[in-house]
Amino acid sequence: MTAVSESVRLEIESSDVGDVALVIVDNPPVNALSWHVRQGLFDGINQAVEGGAKAVVVICDGRTFIAGADISEFGGNVPKAAGLHEVQAAMENAAVPVIAAIHGTALGGGLEVALCAHYRVAVSSAKFGLPEVNLGLLPGAGGTQRLPRLVGVPKALEMMTSGRHIGTAEALAAGLIDDVTEGGLDELRAAAVAFAGRAITENMALARVRDRDEKVLEARGNDQLFADFRTSIGRKTRGFLAPEYNIQCIEAAANLPFDEGLAVEGKLFMELMTGPQSGAQRYAFFAERAANKIPDIAKDTPIIDIQTCGVLGAGTMGGGIAMNFANVGIPVTIVERDQAALDRGLGVVRKNYERSASRGSIPPEAVEQRMALITGSTDKADFAHCDIVIEAVFEDMELKKSIFRELDQICKPGALLASNTSALDVNEIAAVTSRPESVIGMHFFSPANVMKLLENVRGAKSSDTVVATTMAIGKRIGKVPVMVGVCPGFVGNRMLFMRGAEAERMILEGATPAQVDRVLFDFGFPMGPFAMSDLAGLDIGWKEEKSSSSTVREILCENGRRGQKNGRGYYTYDPDTRASTPDPEVEQLIKAFAVGKGIEQREVTDQEVMERLLYPMVNEGAKILDEGIAIRGSDIDVVWVNGYGWPLYRGGPMYWADQVGLAEIVAKISGYSESLGGRHWGLSPLLARLAEEGGALHQFSN
Ligand code: 3HC
Ligand code: NAI
Repeated sequence: MTAVSESVRLEIESSDVGDVALVIVDNPPVNALSWHVRQGLFDGINQAVEGGAKAVVVICDGRTFIAGADISEFGGNVPKAAGLHEVQAAMENAAVPVIAAIHGTALGGGLEVALCAHYRVAVSSAKFGLPEVNLGLLPGAGGTQRLPRLVGVPKALEMMTSGRHIGTAEALAAGLIDDVTEGGLDELRAAAVAFAGRAITENMALARVRDRDEKVLEARGNDQLFADFRTSIGRKTRGFLAPEYNIQCIEAAANLPFDEGLAVEGKLFMELMTGPQSGAQRYAFFAERAANKIPDIAKDTPIIDIQTCGVLGAGTMGGGIAMNFANVGIPVTIVERDQAALDRGLGVVRKNYERSASRGSIPPEAVEQRMALITGSTDKADFAHCDIVIEAVFEDMELKKSIFRELDQICKPGALLASNTSALDVNEIAAVTSRPESVIGMHFFSPANVMKLLENVRGAKSSDTVVATTMAIGKRIGKVPVMVGVCPGFVGNRMLFMRGAEAERMILEGATPAQVDRVLFDFGFPMGPFAMSDLAGLDIGWKEEKSSSSTVREILCENGRRGQKNGRGYYTYDPDTRASTPDPEVEQLIKAFAVGKGIEQREVTDQEVMERLLYPMVNEGAKILDEGIAIRGSDIDVVWVNGYGWPLYRGGPMYWADQVGLAEIVAKISGYSESLGGRHWGLSPLLARLAEEGGALHQFSN
C-alpha cells in the first residue's frame, strides 16, 4: 500500500493476468472531491499506469463512493491541486482499462468521475445522480455531455432537472453501469478486480463515454422534444435558473460536438456558480445540516428506539402523520373518538396511497403493505405498547391537557409523548403529566405526509434523550427537523402572523387581495395569503351565530363567500377550470369596511406591499433569535424554506434580509412606523444592533 495523498492510497492486487491497481479514496464523511482527493486521484492513476498495472480500479472507503465536489471549497481559498478535468483526462486517456467501483451514492462530481472510467460496476444498493440542480448548479465536469451519451437525452433531462437519484436496476437498464454485484464493500472490491481481470484477458476496449454519440444523435435537431420538456417542468421550476441551464447544456450535447458542448457547460456553470441563486441554495444545503446539531445535546446522547408509533386523531394532520411512519415500516396505532371518525380518517389515508400508486410514485403493492401497518382503534389504552405517541386532536388547550393526563396513565415509562399543536404552550401541556421530561412538541405541516418541515418544540423540561429522539426520528421519516423553543406560534407561525396581519391592513388601505397575492407569487411563493385562505376555506373556525362583521373574512363569510369550495371567496372561481378572478363585489365590501373604520384608501405600490409583508417577518425573526427561541438564524431559514414556501433560491428570510441589507430594512421599518402612525412593529434591538455593526442575521447563533 502507498499513500498518494492525505486521502488517497494505492494498493496492488497481483494475479496471473497481471497487476490490478486499486486507487482508494478515503475522505470522510462522503468522500467529497476536496483538493487532496483530486490530486491523489490524478497522481494515483498516473503512478498505477507508470508502475505497469494492467488495469486500474477507482474505489472508495467508508459509506459511499464520491458524493460530489467538495461544496465547502466553492468560493473559498483552496490549495493548488489537480483540477477535476485533469483527473478525468487521466482516467479517460489511460492506456489500460479503468473501472469505477461504486457503493453508496455516486453523485455530482462523483458520478462525473465514474463517467470517465471505461467501465462501471456497482453493488446493488448503490445510487446514482447529478443533483447539482438542487444547489442551483449544473454538473460542471462533463456530466451534462456524458450522461446523455450513456442514458439518452430524455432520461438525462429528467435526472438532471430533478436531481433524482436512481438505483442500480434503472442504471443498468439505462446503460449507465455495466455490472452489478450483491453484498458490501468487500464483495464490490472483489467484483471490480474480477471485472478488471476479464477486461485484461478479453482485451476489452478502452470505452470512452465522450466518443459514444449514438444516443445523443437521436435527439439532434429535435427542438420539440426540448420545448415539450420545458413545458412539463415549468410550474415546478418557476423562478429557478438552474433547471433551464441544465436543459441548455443537454441541448448542446445533442446538437454540438463533444468539446463544443463542454465549452457551453463550462460557461453556464460559471454563470450559475457566481450568481445569487446558487449562493442561496448552497447556503440552504448547509443550513439544513446545521439544524441537526443542537449545541447542548451531546452527539452520543442515547435515543429511544422507536419501533411502534401511536397517533391520536385521524383528522387532517393525524392521518398524514401516521403515513410518515408507515412509509418507513414503523407500525402505527391510530386512535379516534368514534368508529365513524376513524373510518373516515383511514379512508383518506387509503385514498392518498391509492393516488400515489396510480401516479407511480409508490409501487401498487405498497398500498396494502402500508395500510397493514396502520391499526385503527377507538381506545387510547391501545397506546400502552407504543414507543412514541403523537397527539393531533383539535387545537384546544383544555382538551390537550385532558388527553395528556390520560396518556400519562396509559403509556409505558420512557415513551415519548408529543403534541402536534401549531401554537399552544408545550410547557403547560407537559405540566399536567407526571413526566414532563418525556413531553415535546412535534409540529408537522399540512399535508403532513408531503411537507418536509418538522418543527420540533423543546419544552423547558424535555430531556436530552427526548430532544435527540425527535430529531433522529424526524430524519428517519424523511423530514427536515428543526428544534425551536416555546412561544406562541413557535418560529414559523409567529412570523407568518406578522405577514398576515400586514396583508390584512394593506387591503384596508387600498391594496387589493390580488395585488398582495401577486407580489408574493412574483417573489417566488407558491401563492399569497388570500388565495391560500380561499383554498383552505374562509369558514374554518367561523360560526355564523357569533359573526360580528369585525374582519374582512367574517364579512365575506356573512356574504356567503366560503372560498374555493363554493366558488366564491376573496376571488371568484370558474366552476370548470377553477381559475380565479378578482371580484369587484369583494373590493366594494373591503372598501365599505375600511370607510366604516375611518381608513382612507389610497394606491399602495408593489414595492410597499413587498416591504410591508416581508420586513416585519425579518424583524420578528430577529426577535425570535434574540429570545433564544431559534438556535441560529439559519434555522429560521430552514423553517421557512421547508414549511412555508419561501423560495429556496432566496435562501430564507434571514439570508435574504442580509442580501437586501439590514441597515436598509431598519430604515424602512422606522420609516413605515412613522408614516403609518407609529402603530408598527417595534424594531428588534438585535436587528438594530446587527445593522449598525454590519453583522448578519443568517450567521447569528445563540
Ligand atoms: N461537499 C462537502 N460536504 C458535504 C458534501 C459535499 N458534496 N456532501 C455532504 N457533505 C457533508 C455534510 O455537510 C455533512 O456534514 P456534517 O456532518 O458536518 O453536517 C456530512 O457530509 C454528511 O452529510 P449528510 O448529513 O447529508 O449525510 P446523508 O448520509 O444524509 O447524505 C449525501 C449523504 C446523499 C451524500 C448528501 O450529503 C448529499 O446529497 N450531498 C450532496 C451531494 C451533491 O449535491 N453533490 C454534488 C455536489 S456539486 C458538484 O459535484 C459539482 C460538480 O459538478 C463539479
Ligand atoms: P382536525 O379537526 O382535522 O382533526 C382532529 C381530529 O381529532 C378529529 O378527527 C377528531 O375527531 C379527533 N379528536 C378530537 N378529540 C379527540 C379525542 N378526545 N380522542 C380522539 N380523537 C379526537 O384537526 P387538524 O387540522 O388535524 O389539527 C390537529 C392538530 O394539529 C391541532 O392541534 C392543530 O393545531 C395542529 N395542526 C394543524 C395543521 C393544519 O394545517 N390543519 C398544521 C399543523 C398543526
